[in-house]
Amino acid sequence: MKNLMVAPSILSTDFAHLGKTLETINRSEADWLHVDVMDGMFVPNISFGTPVLQAIHKHNKKPVELHLMIAQPERYLEVFSKYGEQITVHAEACLHLHSVVQQIKNLGCKAGVALNPHTSLGSLEYVIKDLDTVCLMAVNPGFGGQDFIPDTLEKIKELKQLIQRKDAKAFIEVDGGVNRNNVKEILNSGADAVIAGSSIFNSNDPLRAIQELRNPLIR
Ligand code: DX5
Ligand code: ZN
Repeated sequence: MKNLMVAPSILSTDFAHLGKTLETINRSEADWLHVDVMDGMFVPNISFGTPVLQAIHKHNKKPVELHLMIAQPERYLEVFSKYGEQITVHAEACLHLHSVVQQIKNLGCKAGVALNPHTSLGSLEYVIKDLDTVCLMAVNPGFGGQDFIPDTLEKIKELKQLIQRKDAKAFIEVDGGVNRNNVKEILNSGADAVIAGSSIFNSNDPLRAIQELRNPLIR
């Protein structure tokens, strides 16, 4: 069985101790760091903006994926491109998704597109070949600690078929509600990577939690 790639989402960490959290992630087997930016418009929650991204940039040693849960993300691509190797935008937030993807790539970043649980894969049909990652939301975006939506498993399989049919190279990542109990099914459905917040940071041993998600067979 192949390893899953794992990216911790710092949303559910204690922000009073962000430096400590980043030190832990630096020492961990995490493949990259997932950073959730929310604007209170596209999603009902506000997380943080540029000052926090700057602080993360200073202390973090892992590659960064910026998950932009913001309306019209094209307004911020240039400034955010300084703080992440990959920028993931929501298809639902982009009127001209194809153009936004090209803008991300022209800024030298990898391009990801996230889909909300209700959004059909059809919106990716003509852009999938340009993507480095598709992020399937397994919860409605905006908050950590929600339950995994089971229909996501079927969506992963269908996305895998779309990627193969189009001869595309995009990674499949799954974001939201991922934990040690459902990670094997997610892997078996065809995901390449999982994003996990609460199941890592609410655990007594985040390093071990990351290890267990990466390789569901070690426990
Ligand atoms: C939700 C965010 C997720 C979230 C995952 O809108 O995009 O990255 O932090 O948190 P858990 O793993 O707790 O569902
Ligand atoms: Zn996220």
